[in-house]
Amino acid sequence: MQKYPERKPCGILVGKVALVTGGASGIGRATACLFAQEGAAVAIADVDEEQGPPVTQGIINRGGDALFIRCDVSLARECEHAVQETVKQWGKLDILFNGAGITRRASVLETTEEEWDRVMAVNVKSVFLLAKYAIPVMARSGGGTIVNTASGWGLVGGKDAVSYCASKGAVVLLTKAMALDHGAQNIRVNCICPGDTDTPMLRNEAKQLGIPQEQVIMESAKRPLQRVGRPEEVAQGVLYLVSDASSFVTGTSLVIDGGGLAGSE
Ligand SMILES: NC(=O)c1ccc[n+]([C@@H]2O[C@H](COP(=O)([O-])OP(=O)(O)OC[C@H]3O[C@@H](n4cnc5c(N)ncnc54)[C@H](O)[C@@H]3O)[C@@H](O)[C@H]2O)c1
Repeated sequence: MQKYPERKPCGILVGKVALVTGGASGIGRATACLFAQEGAAVAIADVDEEQGPPVTQGIINRGGDALFIRCDVSLARECEHAVQETVKQWGKLDILFNGAGITRRASVLETTEEEWDRVMAVNVKSVFLLAKYAIPVMARSGGGTIVNTASGWGLVGGKDAVSYCASKGAVVLLTKAMALDHGAQNIRVNCICPGDTDTPMLRNEAKQLGIPQEQVIMESAKRPLQRVGRPEEVAQGVLYLVSDASSFVTGTSLVIDGGGLAGSE
């Protein structure tokens, strides 16, 4: 049985307000829960109105402070609304974690124009839109931190995933460009590049590829640490990037992938 290290919460984010997109599931959910455990008030913005509210309720039940906001991150008015609602509730915004994302496993020939546009809108345009509304609020209170979600497939290509790879590559450079523009406002902008992590998205890829879920998990485990990641492990990397522990880190891409991109044997 695989053992995972546990880390005791130590109030790293006490007094902070965070907005987490994609917080209804997977990496976003684990990150929202970890932020709350570390003392932050957390707004979860997601299209999933079934799975989102139970996550916020769970945080509240454990003594935390949380709010669910229905938001399609591809739409400007809904991103603006998510930032406004967060500020209305807690008066400020210190942390933005852009976790929402979708994937389409297909080559150029099999990807429709609509699928391309949707993947780019949910994975990339959302980062631009949320930053557009969050940055002025952060700047007003002296700074903040933004963490975007790219992927190992934003650094190297992956098979049958053209729109996804293009979107995640864009997130890596959007992150760097934003870091340049907003460092002077004391706003740090970084991204994470997770490798295969056991979430509904990874299992949905099996469906798209027409292969059993177990096969995807098995293939994904072919990396130095010989297993897929857990969303909670990725969340720890996000916590580092939003916390004062990374106070001199901006514009970086943190690879969290069990060594998957370390090299080939
Ligand atoms: N799981 C992996 O192996 C893996 C690897 C690398 C990168 N990532 C990235 O991590 C992020 C989280 O993925 P996950 O694996 O936790 O997937 P997931 O499917 O479990 O969670 C994604 C969340 O995003 C939400 N979402 C989707 N479209 C949205 C929209 N238009 N507006 C608002 N919310 C929306 C979903 O409702 C869901 O709650 C994604 O950006 C994904 O690309 C995942």
